[in-house]
Amino acid sequence: MPTHATFRTLQATWLENALRQYAALSEPGPGVSRLAYTRLERQAHELFAAQLADLGIPSHTDAAGNTIGELPPNAGPRPGAIGTGSHLDSVPHGGAYDGVVGVVGALAVAAAAGAHDRPRHHPWRFVAFAAEEGARFGQACNGSRMVAGLTGAPDLRQLTDSTGTTMAAAMAECGLAPHDVEAARWDPRDWSAFVELHIEQGTVLQDRGVPIGLVDTVSGSTRLRVSLTGVASHTGGTPMDGRHDALATAAECVLGCERLALAAAEVNTRITVGSLTVEPGAITIIPGRVVFTVDVRETDHGRQRTATDAVSRHCRAVAARRGVDIEIEELADTPPVGLSSEVRSAAGDAAATLGLATAVIPSGASHDTQQVSRLTAAGIVFVPSRGGLSHSPDEFSTAEQIADGTAVLLETMYRLDARR
Ligand code: GLV
Ligand code: MN
Ligand code: MN
Repeated sequence: MPTHATFRTLQATWLENALRQYAALSEPGPGVSRLAYTRLERQAHELFAAQLADLGIPSHTDAAGNTIGELPPNAGPRPGAIGTGSHLDSVPHGGAYDGVVGVVGALAVAAAAGAHDRPRHHPWRFVAFAAEEGARFGQACNGSRMVAGLTGAPDLRQLTDSTGTTMAAAMAECGLAPHDVEAARWDPRDWSAFVELHIEQGTVLQDRGVPIGLVDTVSGSTRLRVSLTGVASHTGGTPMDGRHDALATAAECVLGCERLALAAAEVNTRITVGSLTVEPGAITIIPGRVVFTVDVRETDHGRQRTATDAVSRHCRAVAARRGVDIEIEELADTPPVGLSSEVRSAAGDAAATLGLATAVIPSGASHDTQQVSRLTAAGIVFVPSRGGLSHSPDEFSTAEQIADGTAVLLETMYRLDARR
């Protein structure tokens, strides 16, 4: 095996190049736009499969669109795979690192493990999950939810994007098999452990000057779509009293969401209105209809539900006072999860062996490993994000930081392989 210093230098150049290849698969415009279940997302999966094939690792894409390759054991075989990977879709105008770091990290691990004779008793699996971002269909972690049996064929006909396209239709358009996603389910007996490499998407590691984060809890997320229907009318002819302005109502709701989250700031409740559409949307018409989304993030599911209920009550009260009709749909409710202490300790030992400091931190964002943790012992390793920026074209981690994360990932896989 190469020393960590050599591995880091070799990997940094390779990783930077691989990240660039994926970033090129984007709609035009700032940042990376490669939405769930689109041709571009499929091209990224084809690139992953081709890169695995270059390493001599066969792969397949399942009915849900997840791409999975496997390196067989090179020593006395034991049952249950050790897996790693992340996702290849992005938010609109997102960064080049969210998800992709864990996929190129998996490829780097595959290359290093395949090239050396250190014993691997378990099959090692490398996974690119489909449709992790909730940006298109509201619900996050779709590919991993399907492997965990949490989202099934009937759900795919209910989830829609902003144009009304169902997830099932988008999947079929990409040549996937939405009617048969049951076939994508993973059998827990076929798994031994899973570890995902990801950017932190926060500032804790940067602020503490620590290169490696070990995630203990992944925040949950409850997502709402709020539709307000008021009365569209002439902005000049209609007096100010007696209006039923859907946008003014939404404005009060949005600020109320912010106030609720700020009031719970000591427990780190995060509430965000991230999208809002106004109809008819003309300078001379009082807005008749507004639809906005709310994303409630928490590390405690009780607080997550309490905050969501408070948001609903607040919006209903504002709408009632203003004589505006309101409909609130819950698009998703994913509870927080605690990750495996065994995987965290293997990753901590791996980092210590490499001379890299660690911090145990929660994840504010959702991750596929949240769903995989229902099937097998699972953990997440973070590398720092510059300025904590993510879901932004300015998302950035240095190649050296990612190479450190990759080295920890590789060593963690070996340790899990030996312990299980
Ligand atoms: C996934 O990126 C999320 O929205 O947390
Ligand atoms: Mn991600
Ligand atoms: Mn993301």
